Amino acid sequence: MRKKIVAANWKMNLNPVEANSLFDEVSQISNSDVEILVFPSAIYLLGFNQKKSGNVKLGIQNFYPTDKGALTGEISISQAKECGAEYALVGHSERRALFGETHDFLKQKVDACLTHDLTPVFCCGEPLEIRQAHKHIAYVKNQIVTGLFHLDANEIVKCIVAYEPVWAIGTGLTASTKQAEEMQKEIRSWFSSNYGNDIAEKISILYGGSCNASNAKELFSCANVDGGLIGGASLKKESFEEIIESF
Ligand code: PGA
Repeated sequence: MRKKIVAANWKMNLNPVEANSLFDEVSQISNSDVEILVFPSAIYLLGFNQKKSGNVKLGIQNFYPTDKGALTGEISISQAKECGAEYALVGHSERRALFGETHDFLKQKVDACLTHDLTPVFCCGEPLEIRQAHKHIAYVKNQIVTGLFHLDANEIVKCIVAYEPVWAIGTGLTASTKQAEEMQKEIRSWFSSNYGNDIAEKISILYGGSCNASNAKELFSCANVDGGLIGGASLKKESFEEIIESF
């Protein structure tokens, strides 16, 4: 059985008081069937780690893939780990589009995670014009191949994938269950062709992009949707909890 995962990507939201109180509320959600991950602003990680309880795990939204150096403003994966992060987002469309993170840089980030025993949550997804041109499958395949396929079987099973169509992120437009399942089944088939079916069946593939309390149940009922990466709807305990309870 693959792990069911619901991850909160808080992005650059919540002041310290709001963040602390939401983290306390989320820590009280008890659902042993679902792994709950919280990706807060990095400056909150250490404090959250000191008061962490329940089955909530912490992740970092962004990091730099070398261990130390003259890189003003950057955070290394080992620093993130020592502050409590067990997971890291890699390849989020905002990092790709707004901060110019390239395929090669993302590959380095995946490797840095695995070297330090953190689980990469590797995000992929196509912009609207690519879907309209019917090139979305090839586009996402290229992201997966360039970011992950250099890994061996022991490494790839440690990764989580999040399919997030760019046109659905923060827009209120959600992929239909048909669109999400079509892509996520494809993604699993690439893992299967490259690493074998046993490995492919172990990799959790999340859906992200305007996933909320009203559509989560339907999305999570798809055979290849193993959970969600939630932005906007993770900023309120009620909606985040309802998404978790959708399984
Ligand atoms: P959204 O964000 O749920 O607000 O669309 C998802 C994400 O960017 O991870």
